[in-house]
Amino acid sequence: MLVNGTPYRTVWLEENEGEVGIIDQRKLPFSFETVILKTTEDSAVAIRDMYVRGAGCIGAVAAHGMYLAAIESSAADRDFDTVFQEKGEFLCSTRPTAMNLRWAVERQWAEVAGISSDADRIAKTREVAQEVADEDSEWCRSIGEHGVSLIREAYEQKGKNEPVNVLTHCNAGWLAFVDFGSATAPIYAAHDAGIPVHVWVDETRPRNQGARLTAWELGQHGVPHTVIVDNVGGHLMQHGMVDLVITGTDRTTHTGDVANKIGTYLKALAAKDNDVPFYVALPSSTFDWETKDGVADIPIEQRGGEEVAIVSGILAKGDCSEVDVNLVAPGSAVTNYAFDVTPRRLVSGLITERGICDANEKSILQLFPERA
Ligand code: MRU
Repeated sequence: MLVNGTPYRTVWLEENEGEVGIIDQRKLPFSFETVILKTTEDSAVAIRDMYVRGAGCIGAVAAHGMYLAAIESSAADRDFDTVFQEKGEFLCSTRPTAMNLRWAVERQWAEVAGISSDADRIAKTREVAQEVADEDSEWCRSIGEHGVSLIREAYEQKGKNEPVNVLTHCNAGWLAFVDFGSATAPIYAAHDAGIPVHVWVDETRPRNQGARLTAWELGQHGVPHTVIVDNVGGHLMQHGMVDLVITGTDRTTHTGDVANKIGTYLKALAAKDNDVPFYVALPSSTFDWETKDGVADIPIEQRGGEEVAIVSGILAKGDCSEVDVNLVAPGSAVTNYAFDVTPRRLVSGLITERGICDANEKSILQLFPERA
């Protein structure tokens, strides 16, 4: 996507061997900065400390991190496979809910198995990192092609030449992937096709990915949008001001349960109560093909309490550097569950790169029969 007119992806291979470029998302929207990763440790820090975040982007950075891991493993004085395995596990430990992370690491392990020369292993992991990024981008583009039909239908149903109001939570935009995004891909496709669309952007406490990232992205692409606090969605839905909810997901079981940023479940409940269609957009790399019961069995990442207690932003007046502000009464306990699980019964459908299906095992496996 374009940043001030220049095309960017969220992660890329630098021409120099052993260097990977990323956008430092912690600085957005106030400053656009890129960072070079040179080690597995750098990649783990970038994922854990959320320089990069979002399902597909985490997966793609992990795939690139495994290329750096291959370089390190071949220079280590221990057996390549053992070190490469340890480094992959280390990357996987950084964000436990994110499905794409393990998916990318396992893919690199599988691709390298059976190769015996260090140079070939390194070349292979570099090639696979690029493949993962290209595939992610292509899948998100296809999600847009399929998902735009929902926005078009909503527009035709309204029949008043009024914009379709889509509500989204967190950031499942191009910053959360390599390009295009999942939840935003149908929105960008609709906007580019001339269908009037307006987006309600949940601010998404505690890290404010909606207010900071989704709003910035949509603004860069010229899509009309309004940032709302997280608790407004129910009110808007009750008053007919939301036509469609589209969110992303960090992990979706093959039975249709959706793990996504904390607060998604409440939006799904409000949508159900108000007959507002609630769709989830995801590439196949985000499906968990093993877990059956998402509510019981998806591990939910708990992050540091400081993310709840402290918000950061720039001063309303004057200096443009970021400042941290403490919000919570001194001495009060805080807790920080990063994700929740929306049960399949609340999900109207899943928008994937192969088409739209119902959120149940039968319908998902019809689109992905090779997983049956
Ligand atoms: O904690 P984050 O920012 O990595 O959370 C992930 C997300 O961006 C959202 O949950 C998103 O809706 C799904 S990932 C495309």
